[in-house]
Amino acid sequence: MAKFKGFLFGLFLVGSIALNIFFLTNNLYAGYVNKQQLSWSQRAAAEAEAVASVSCSGHGITYLDGLFLDGKPVCECNSCYGGPTCSHFLPDCVANADSGDPLFLEPFWMQHAESSALLVAGWHRMSYGFADQSSMSQVLQNHILKVHSISRNAITKGKYLVFGAGSTQLLSAAVFALSLNSSSLARVVAASPYYPVYKTQTDFFETAHFEFQGDALLMKRSSNSTGNVIEFVTSPNNPDGLLRKAVLQGSSVNAIYDHAYYWPHFTAIPAPADEDVMIFTISKLTGHAGSRFGWALVKDEDVYLNMLKYTQLAELGVSRDTQLRALQLLKVVLEGDGREIFHFAYEKMRDRWEKISQIVSLSKRYTIQDIPPQYCNFFEKVRGPSPAYVWLKCEREEDTNCNAVLRGANIIGRLGSLFNASDRYVRLSLLKRDDDFNLLLYRLKELVSKEGGANQLIEPKLIVL
Ligand SMILES: Cc1ncc(COP(=O)(O)O)c(C=O)c1O
Repeated sequence: MAKFKGFLFGLFLVGSIALNIFFLTNNLYAGYVNKQQLSWSQRAAAEAEAVASVSCSGHGITYLDGLFLDGKPVCECNSCYGGPTCSHFLPDCVANADSGDPLFLEPFWMQHAESSALLVAGWHRMSYGFADQSSMSQVLQNHILKVHSISRNAITKGKYLVFGAGSTQLLSAAVFALSLNSSSLARVVAASPYYPVYKTQTDFFETAHFEFQGDALLMKRSSNSTGNVIEFVTSPNNPDGLLRKAVLQGSSVNAIYDHAYYWPHFTAIPAPADEDVMIFTISKLTGHAGSRFGWALVKDEDVYLNMLKYTQLAELGVSRDTQLRALQLLKVVLEGDGREIFHFAYEKMRDRWEKISQIVSLSKRYTIQDIPPQYCNFFEKVRGPSPAYVWLKCEREEDTNCNAVLRGANIIGRLGSLFNASDRYVRLSLLKRDDDFNLLLYRLKELVSKEGGANQLIEPKLIVL
């Protein structure tokens, strides 16, 4: 009996010690993640929240690295708003639809303030390399592959991944890589209308290996595509939002597919892209153009190695801080079923396109591009257009400079000739903040109403929130 009591006592003792250890470690962990117990990160978190809590009337933002006046952060107002709290609407303000700044996604990130916030320790990744001596985060690479698999926009299997300081750097890296080992001068082309940076960048960085030769369609017509040719293919295209394939073919032609806008936000995804060189960017995926992060998926090992070499020589790889930021953003993108951002962005872009289309359809003087509905691999149905830009055309014979016509109506766009097209065209950005878009809509309504043919448009109404 005494033996049995001893056994029971021992059992209880061991059980009690085990339970204590369990609760103690659990408490320690809970304490670790408990916000009350934070130590060195508390000040940074408090400062970030204090700056973000300053009201700019919904028409501006304060930033940690912005100006401070008397210890208080100064509001940076959206265009057409002024005053210390951005509460004054500037009535004669011009609707600036020029730049492709993708600020339409700001509200998405404000809705995800908690999960997207990032606190960087003073000693975060100070080294030139990661532990494996590479300059690319393996975890970030895995997240990128997951985003492609959810958006169903690219085949990543069998491809190498290269990071760049935005896709801008990778466009240049690809031209270098594809022309480096060529025996003859590589001629770089793009089908008009094309994104102007292809020309400006190629001209600026011209070497003995390559030069910009203009319109790929002209080259095709002249049947002069012998020798090494590099064709930039933007799909969907900036400025007109149309899906594209290379116009030149042949064993000496290499294509660089710029897929900056190949996301369900901006286009139907008929099938996952599977090209030899494909370039993507978070600028148009998450809207973080300022973070300067892009990546390339490359099939050929030599091309990949040369692109990698380019980014290493240019800046020893992409900033580790930028990679951390990109990782945090992609973590949010992948939250839940990983589809939320695509739905959010698509709805917004579609709504903007429909509003603009409706106004322009009431005019005889202006037209916009026609984008046919198409089956989308992401939404698994036929869907209508939601492009990043309106490619507006002035149809009247005398309107040879469409931008000048729009300027008369207080609208600024980007002139057609910048895209190697006629100045009868103007590109209007749909990517900007709600404030900018609302003003653009208002000014377009004014313009079309003045034309007289738009009786349906009673009074252009500007919604000032
Ligand atoms: C077609 C196209 N490619 C590349 C870029 C540049 O993107 P990033 O910010 O990644 O350099 C842009 C930006 O507007 C673009 O329109």
